[in-house]
Amino acid sequence: MASEFPADAIGIDDFSVYVPKLYIPTVGKFAISRGIEPAKLVKGIGIERMAIPDAHEDAATMAAMSVHELMQRNSLRPQDIGKIYIGTESGVDEAKAIGTYVIGMLEQIYGPGSFQECLTVELKSACIAASYALEDLCCWVAAGGDEGRVGIAVASDVARYPLRSGGEYTQGAGSVALLVKRDPRLIALEDMIGVYTRDENDFFRPPGCSMAVVNGKHSNDCYLDAVGGAFASFAKKAIRRGKLQLREGECVSDHVSHFLFHIPYPRMVEYASAALFRQEWRGLPRWKGVEDELGREPRAEDFSDPGEHQRAEADFSRRFSKSDAFRQAFSSKVGESARISRQVGNIYTGSIYLGLASLAEQNLLCPGQRVCFCSYGSGCSAMVFSGIVREEADCPPGRDIFKRLDQRWEISLQEYEDLHEGGRKESLIFPEREFARLYIDSQGYRHYGYVSQAP
Ligand code: COA
Repeated sequence: MASEFPADAIGIDDFSVYVPKLYIPTVGKFAISRGIEPAKLVKGIGIERMAIPDAHEDAATMAAMSVHELMQRNSLRPQDIGKIYIGTESGVDEAKAIGTYVIGMLEQIYGPGSFQECLTVELKSACIAASYALEDLCCWVAAGGDEGRVGIAVASDVARYPLRSGGEYTQGAGSVALLVKRDPRLIALEDMIGVYTRDENDFFRPPGCSMAVVNGKHSNDCYLDAVGGAFASFAKKAIRRGKLQLREGECVSDHVSHFLFHIPYPRMVEYASAALFRQEWRGLPRWKGVEDELGREPRAEDFSDPGEHQRAEADFSRRFSKSDAFRQAFSSKVGESARISRQVGNIYTGSIYLGLASLAEQNLLCPGQRVCFCSYGSGCSAMVFSGIVREEADCPPGRDIFKRLDQRWEISLQEYEDLHEGGRKESLIFPEREFARLYIDSQGYRHYGYVSQAP
């Protein structure tokens, strides 16, 4: 499975993760109050705890926290950073880029004007925005625009759905900052990207609405279609450009050690990988083994009633996801990437990079392995790209993410609902060595500060 490293490597050198200190378990009072069996939330959806932002937190403070940690981990000075691109769909302003607020916060530590030669752009494209930020920054470095400086791609979001809605138990919040540079220590991205785009109404937030309109089941279908389409486009490119040579009976996914998917909730990763492996294996000699075990895969042309075909397809798909062949591929290439998301919930555009963090924190990334990123954003578009784990992947020190997640503070159902509805103005945990939103003035401008010590 090992591959050649790209000669002129550009990619992810390091990353940092910020998750709010507050959480609510999905089991216990939450599940009881919503009349949902805990097993559905823990197994059927896959989320055990949802990260909840405190009263002083928003997408801007979380982005500042992750960027600051990344700078500290890598002894980066403001003048070392050429661009900070921030992907978010929880923007704090309709015009002003969120990065200007983030730079304002960072300058409270690094000094006024210290970031004035750093370009910042806010990208909005639902849950795929941070991947587009990453792609843009890699192109900037490849074109030589970096002049020795690094770029930072940031994902920062608060996933919030109405109380008692079907999306409520998939909420979460957090930020991931990716350090993008030449000769990266962690992952060198390969020069092949597959994309898929179409106009959809699966998830959108019209101007003035604080929460998105979600057509949940439809969003699952759009996700599967788009990721399948983008993977097919990626596979075609990889073969056409000679990046992968397939032997008899092989498919592109055989050359991938780890798949990272967008993780709106961990169970989705299972649906996505089942669809992808089916797409990949169909037509290969190994598919006969699958059909011997499960029976013939339903084909549209065999059914006069589309509803009947849909039911047969759902049944086959359920049985495929329990088959030995799938369970083996899933546990070796996919399953471990959802570990952090189980404890955090959805963080929208950063969730795929929580997958990367899950692997890195468990020391599962080995030099030479190919990692395939399958990013999805509602609306909808998908982007599939890959990278090779580098020899120096274990050089960036561990981040203690699992330990930090264990040290969070559990909040009550009432506290959660108050924070959700904006009814709580005071923080549950007073910020300390942390960026905080201090107040919003009468014009709507947000005032942020770095709070070094709780009073
Ligand atoms: N024990 C174990 N599993 C259970 C269960 C129980 N007691 N009760 C239900 N489940 C299983 C279901 O069988 C199903 O699994 P299956 O697909 O293998 O059958 C799973 O839990 C999910 O339940 P389901 O009823 O299908 O989902 P839902 O109506 O709760 O909706 C979403 C799920 C994701 C559509 C909804 O949460 C949503 O709209 N989320 C926001 C949008 C989103 O995240 N979209 C994702 C794509 S971007």
